[in-house]
Amino acid sequence: MSKDLSTVSENKQYDQEVLEVRQPQYGADPQFINRWSTRAFAPYELSKEELYKVLEAGQYAPSANNVQPWRFYIAQTEQEKNHFLSFILPRNAEWCKNASALILLASDTLNAEGKEHGKHAFDAGAAWQAIALQAHLLGLSTRAMGGFDSAAAREKLNIPQQLVPQIVIALGKPGSLEQLDPSFHERNKPTPRKSLQELIIPYEIK
Ligand SMILES: Cc1cc2nc3c(=O)[nH]c(=O)nc-3n(C[C@H](O)[C@H](O)[C@H](O)COP(=O)(O)O)c2cc1C
Repeated sequence: MSKDLSTVSENKQYDQEVLEVRQPQYGADPQFINRWSTRAFAPYELSKEELYKVLEAGQYAPSANNVQPWRFYIAQTEQEKNHFLSFILPRNAEWCKNASALILLASDTLNAEGKEHGKHAFDAGAAWQAIALQAHLLGLSTRAMGGFDSAAAREKLNIPQQLVPQIVIALGKPGSLEQLDPSFHERNKPTPRKSLQELIIPYEIK
C-alpha cells in the first residue's frame, strides 16, 4: 500500500532552525536534515569513548570491494592541535582551534594487494558522512575542512605517499556565537539544499 508522504514531515522532529531553509518533502529521518556544520565550538573535553564511537561509525562505512581506505590522524591535546593548526589555512584555524579534536581523514590509494584503488576518495567520503552523523547523534558537531595545506600536512604528520589527505574534521560540542569571531556569525546557520527535482536527471531510453 502506498503511503502519503506529503504528511510525513509533519510527524518528524525536524529542528525549527533548519526548517527555515530546509523543507524535506518525503520524510527523510531527522538525523539527516537536522545535522549542520557549526563553526562555533564550546570548550569541551571529549572522552576517548566519544571520539572512538564517532570514528567507529566511519570504520563501518561501505567501500568498494570492502577495501576500507579511510585512515585517521588525530589531534586532541593542545600540542597536537597546534601542530595541526600549522597546516590549516588561517581562516579555518580561527574557528577550528576551539574544537575538541581535529581529525585528518586520509585515503589509501592502494588496496591490500598494492594495486590502485580507484574509489579511495569516494569511500573516504562515505566514512566522513558516517562520522558526521554519529557525532550529531551524540549531540556533538563536526565541520569538514578542505582548506588546509596538504603538502604541509604530509610533511608535518609524516604521511606516506600512498595516502592522500582528504579533509580535516573539526569535532566538538556546538557552542554559542560568543565562542566565534563576529566575522563568521552571519554564516553560522543551517544551509539550504537544491530541490530533488534539480538532482534527478531525466533521460530517454533510446
Ligand atoms: C570536502 C569538504 C570541504 C569543506 N571545506 C571547508 C572549509 O575549508 N572551511 C569551512 O569552513 N567549511 C568547509 N566545508 C563545510 C561546507 O561548506 C558545508 O558542509 C556545506 O556548506 C554544507 O553545510 P552543512 O554541512 O552545514 O550542511 C567543507 C565541507 C566538505 C564536505
